[in-house]
This record gives sequence, structure tokens and C-alpha cells, in this order.
Amino acid sequence: MKLLRTLVAACALTTIAAAADAQTVKIGFITSYTGQNATVGVLMDKALDLYLKEHTKDLPAGVKVEVLRRDDTGPNPEVAKRLATELITRDKVDVLTGVIWTPNAMAIGPLAGEAKTPFLIMNAGTSSITTTSPYVARVSFTLWQSSLPLGQWAAKNNLKKVYVLTSDYGPGNDAQAAFTKGFTDGGGTVVDSVKMPIQTQDFAPYLQKVKDAKPDAVFVFVPAGIQATGVIKAYSNLGLPQAGIKLIGPGDITPDEELPNMGDFAVGTITMFHYSAAANRPANKAFVAAWKRAYGADTNPNFNAVQVWDGMQAIFDAIRAEKGKMSGEKTMAFWKGWKFDSPRGPIMIDPETRDIVQNEYLRRLEKVDGKLANVELETFATAVKDPWKVLNNKK
Ligand code: PHB
Repeated sequence: MKLLRTLVAACALTTIAAAADAQTVKIGFITSYTGQNATVGVLMDKALDLYLKEHTKDLPAGVKVEVLRRDDTGPNPEVAKRLATELITRDKVDVLTGVIWTPNAMAIGPLAGEAKTPFLIMNAGTSSITTTSPYVARVSFTLWQSSLPLGQWAAKNNLKKVYVLTSDYGPGNDAQAAFTKGFTDGGGTVVDSVKMPIQTQDFAPYLQKVKDAKPDAVFVFVPAGIQATGVIKAYSNLGLPQAGIKLIGPGDITPDEELPNMGDFAVGTITMFHYSAAANRPANKAFVAAWKRAYGADTNPNFNAVQVWDGMQAIFDAIRAEKGKMSGEKTMAFWKGWKFDSPRGPIMIDPETRDIVQNEYLRRLEKVDGKLANVELETFATAVKDPWKVLNNKK
């Protein structure tokens, strides 16, 4: 009996020791699986799956990752707040990540700060989001990074009058302000700036007014996804290409996954952005090949997918650095200055602002082997920090 008791005790101890050895890192991943931009959410989810499939083997021995996936149902800050609260307090996640929408990221930032839970943004692009808390970092982009240099390019490339059309919320306001600064500082004239409701799918009334104003070009920001195709279709159906009005914008208006839906009238669209599936950097070739192996030869990753891929790399690198024993403070310290040779080119998280530093590529929408592609014409600017923070001295 005594022996049995000793054996049972020994077994219990071994179980406790094993449980202590096996570290499970919990990641709360929030995106839009339904509602506006559900097509984008699904791509982000696929990128997450692909990363886990390819890289789970690279975790330290005894460390496991558990991803808790949540649907914010679109730009709904109240839902985002509830999901983040549950993930922090009930599920006790080590990292919060994902998030397409600025209003949702703005709602989560302060919660992450209070709980000291690192929040790594994989999409939302309004510059000010990272100032909501020292526990926010970003691996995606800001609209200032793309739209300021595009304004500079437009002024130097014979566009004298541009009409500005942007979705009426954070990233649209940033895109408008950034383009206007780059363009007017270079001598260009903005003939009108009009804001469109965030959820509109009917762009014809807006583009008809653009046509009537006869500018050299129209600059557009919409939050990617199927709205981008809506813009391109209205632009071509109303005959703006034939009227000689060029279409320009951040790469959100020509996302790679929507190109097969856009039709040939979009050829010639000029965009500034950090990622194209057509880029021929070796890291991108490998990424696109892995994507095609997993999801089919006719499919491509897009900018949202690469942001998830890179974000997961940042999280896995932090897990390795902390050997699976995660602390919010250490994770944030680790991300400051983190670098990676991404499919989009070299990237870094700025140690001062916790925002992404990356290249901006000038691209032209072209037909390549019978399919539309965002062909990178040049690396327009290298190692770009968020210009809004640089210009306004924000941390
Ligand atoms: C955002 O809400 O910050 C956002 C959403 C979609 C984009 C860009 C920015 O394509």
C-alpha cells in the first residue's frame, strides 16, 4: 500500500513537471470572417494557416502555439472591444493580433495597454493607432507611407489637377491628407476632395462628378477587398479612361486577389505600395510558391496575407527569444528594432514608434501572361518610417 502511494505521488509529480515543461503560447487572432471585407479576413486566415503549417516545427522544443480565432464582423469597435476583453481576461492570451479595421484597432489599443498584453496590428493603417498605447506595434503599413510619396510622384509626372476621393474614416482621411501634402508641396492642385461612406458599394455617383470636373487624374482610397473592384468598374463603365482621366492611389485600390475580377480597363492604374504578388524578390518568389502549393496554382497571396506572414514571424521570433515563457514587457522590448527579410523586402519595427519601416514601390497595373499584375516599376523610397509621426514628432 505504501509502495502504491509512493508510486501515485511520483506519477502526480511527473505530471505536474510535464505540465510545467510544456509551454503553450496563446495568440488571439481577430479578423473579419463575416461582414465587410470577409474576403480579406479569409485570406488573412489562410496566411496564418500557411505560416503555422510551415513553421510550427521551428518552435523551441516543448513550446506549443494555440491560436484563438475571432470574428469582429467588420468595422465594429464594440464587437472588437468585447472580443479583445474576453481574449485578455478569460483566455489570458499572450499576444493579440490581426485586425483589418482602424476603428477596431483604436478600440483594442487602450485595452492592450491596461492589460500589458502586446497587440501586433496586421492590417489597420491609420497612423495614430500606435499612439493609443505602448503595447501596440504594427507590421502592416500606414496610408501616409504610400500616399505622401504618390503625391510627390504625381506632381513630378505631369499631373497638374487631381480629384481626391476617400472613404470617410481614419485611413481615408490620412490618405487624403498625405496625398494632398505630397502633391501640393510639389506644385499640384487638388480640384476637389470628397469623402465616401465607409460601406458604400456604389461608386458611380462619385466618379461621374470626377468625370464632369475633368481633372488629369483621380486619387482614390477605399479599404481594399471587393470595394476596390467596385471603384475600378465604375471608373471604366463611366468612360473615365477614354476621357483621359488617370486612376491613381495606394495599393488598396488594386489588391492582388481582386485583379481577376477587374477587367482590362484598369490597365495603367498607378499605385504606391509595400507589396505586390508579382514582385520578383527571392523571398517573395518562395512565399508565392508556398501559397500556390497550399491553395492552388491560380491563387495569389495579397498584401494582407504578407502582413499576417510577417506578423507571425515577429511573434515566433519573440517566442524563441523568450523560450516560450512570454511576458508582455519582454515581447514589446523584443519587437522594438525587430528586422526581417520579408517577401515585401527588408522590414523593421521602429524602436521609437513601434511602427513598421519598409520600402514603397511604384507600380503599374499591367497584363502579364494574360493576367493583370501590379508590376513594380521602381523602389520609390527605401526604409520609409511613418511620415505622419516624423512630420508631427509623434511617438
Ligand atoms: C483600416 O481600416 O485601417 C484599413 C482597412 C483596409 C485597408 C486599409 C486600411 O485596405
